[in-house]
Formats: sequence, C-alpha cells, structure tokens
Amino acid sequence: MYLTNDEEKMLAGEYGHSLQKATEILVALGDIYGAERLIPVKSAQIAGVSYKTIGDAGLEWILDLKGHVKVPSILNPAGMDIERWKDMGIEPSFANKQQKIIEAYARLGIRTKCTCTPYYLEGFNVGFGDHIAWSESSAVSYANSVIGARTNREGGPSALSAALVGKTANYGYHLDRMREPVIAVKVDCRLSGSDYGALGYVVGKDIGNRVPIFYMQDKPTNDEMKSLGAAMAASGAVALYHIEGVTPEAKANDFAMPCEVITVERKQIDEVYQASTHVRSADIITVGCPHCSPEELEEIALLVSGKKLKKEMWVCTAREVAQRYPELVERIEKSGAKIVCDTCMVVSPATNRYSSMTVNSGKALAYVPSMCKVAAKYASIEDCVIEAGVIDED
Ligand code: F3S
Repeated sequence: MYLTNDEEKMLAGEYGHSLQKATEILVALGDIYGAERLIPVKSAQIAGVSYKTIGDAGLEWILDLKGHVKVPSILNPAGMDIERWKDMGIEPSFANKQQKIIEAYARLGIRTKCTCTPYYLEGFNVGFGDHIAWSESSAVSYANSVIGARTNREGGPSALSAALVGKTANYGYHLDRMREPVIAVKVDCRLSGSDYGALGYVVGKDIGNRVPIFYMQDKPTNDEMKSLGAAMAASGAVALYHIEGVTPEAKANDFAMPCEVITVERKQIDEVYQASTHVRSADIITVGCPHCSPEELEEIALLVSGKKLKKEMWVCTAREVAQRYPELVERIEKSGAKIVCDTCMVVSPATNRYSSMTVNSGKALAYVPSMCKVAAKYASIEDCVIEAGVIDED
C-alpha cells in the first residue's frame, strides 16, 4: 500500500505510540482488503462505548490511548443516560466505569454526545460522496444508502484509528464498484411505518451482507428508510442498499436489475408481527432504535398527548435532538414516558431486569433477546402506545 512521507512517519512511531498503533490498524486493514492508499475522512463515529459491551478490557485499552482526533468524531450510545442514570436503576459501580470510558474518549477530543444518529447533529451532516469512518451499523447504512456518503462498517478500533489519523484505507464501500447492487428485492405489497423495519428484518436474514436494490410500490420517508437499514444490518449485515427511484445513488446511476431476484410478500411482513405474539403483555415498551428523529418525537408526542401511560416506556433519542425540542420532550414526558438520551434499550444493562419488551424496531427485535435476555415483541408505534396502557386524561 502506498503511504505518503507523513504516513510513513506515523507508522514508524515518530508522532507517538497511539498514532503509530492507529496507522498500523489502518494499514493492516488496507493490506487485507487490497487498498492502494489512505484517503481523508470527513468524520468518524466510534462504537465500543457501553461498559456493558466492552467491559474492563475495553476500558483499559481506551485509557492507554493518547493524542487528539483530526476530524469531528462522536461516540455511539453508552450504557446509561449520562444525566439520569440513577432514574434508570443503573448501579453506581457501572456508572463509575461508564464515566471513565467517556472521559477517556473526551481526552482524545471526541465529542461525548453518544448517539447512533450522528447525521441529526451539528457538524456531522455529511453529504453525497463524502468519505467517512462510522461504525454503528444503522448509522453506516443510513449514511451509505439514504445520504449516499461512503463508509465501511468500521469496528470501534478502526473508526478510532481513522479519527486519530484523519484517514481510512480506500477499500470496500469507498469504491464505486463495491457499491453496485448484486441482488434485487421486489416488494409485492404496500408498506408504511414499522412495516419497513419488518421488511428489513426479513430481507437481512435472507441476503447476509450483499448490496440489494429494492423495487417498491411506495416511496418511503427518511425515517422509514432508517428503520429498514437498521433492521437489515442487524438480522443480516447489510451496510448499503438502494431503492429504485428513491435513494441518491439509484437515482444517479440507473442500475441494471441484478440477475438474482427475491420477492417479499405481505404474509412475510405480517409474520414478523405475529411471531412475537407469545409475548402476551410486555413489561416495558421502548422506541427510538435508531434514536428518534424530530419527526418521530413529534409523532410520539401527538400519540401520547393528554394521556397517562401505565407501563414504563422509553423514547430513545440523541441528547442534542432532545435539547433542540424541549416542548416535544415536555409533551412526551407528561404522559409518563421517559426521554432517554446517550443510550438505548440494547446497550444499557437497565433493560435486563425486565422479562419482555415491545419494540417498533427490527434491529431491537433482532438484538434484545440475545443481548438483554429479554423476550421481544414487534409492533407499530401506535400499538406500542396502546401496549403502554393508556388512561385518557381529557
Ligand atoms: Fe441505536 Fe441502540 Fe438501536 S445503538 S440502532 S438504538 S440498538
């Protein structure tokens, strides 16, 4: 792999041990995947933040790092709401370790707003064709597919290395030829809302990590595409998809239909809702996987306005988004639902104490049973609110 003089110096350790290690990781990946050079990235998003998932070994690794990131960099959700962790029932011993992880990242110059939706935040609004190094799988899918930016599905260490060096190896989804669809998905029914998460759940299981192009009757919103991509990245490992006539690269390229075609029917979408009916009555309802957009907060506020909820309900979103819309936060919290920031139902240990959860996310449906050991049930946002047990106050 060709390296500039400056990159050679980094690799030789002339700029310190951390930068040397970071360059070694990027060069090793570049060599494995046949990259010819490193390319600059516009931003980095770093997974491996929750103490629940990285433990003491991860904490020690981060504490050892020195230096400063070269591009705007942000963290993935942590294991707790940084301000309201006591309300979540988080143990002080966990909170203490979680704080140490966040402070260690902050010393490297990484913004400690913890979210899987960096594209809603100031400084992270990437555009078509921008090269970035993001690691959370739904953020990767959204950036690649809905925005048309370019990122591989980075691991925590490789995203952090890209942040410190300001570059990544030029392979995978940074290259035109790797972004072409290789399988067509015909959707044989009308879809709306949470149907897109169910579709992603079905298709991801079937196609693994391949790049699909969808042929659909409807034109999904950005939030619906966010749900579709998140679910496909979780039940499979899809990092990029196209929708004919909708996503930016499909519009720009006029892709030919791939030879391999699968068809999804309404029956398969319905089965995702029905498969979880053994969970009769969930004891917690969580929405916001990926973290809610302002439009989703507005929709939830409308659904819960003038109502009191009987059950615990979390609405996960980025702290910056919550701070931008205090009136929506107030309307939602007045119902008894909690706005939960910096974390989520999957990476926080706070959900482990429940026995069953209702979700409106195909990604949460895929991960909650395995990562939280909690049974999960899939429902539309309207049914999530009904499941929360509504008492009308009006
Ligand atoms: Fe985000 Fe957590 Fe879902 S990181 S995509 S809310 S599993």
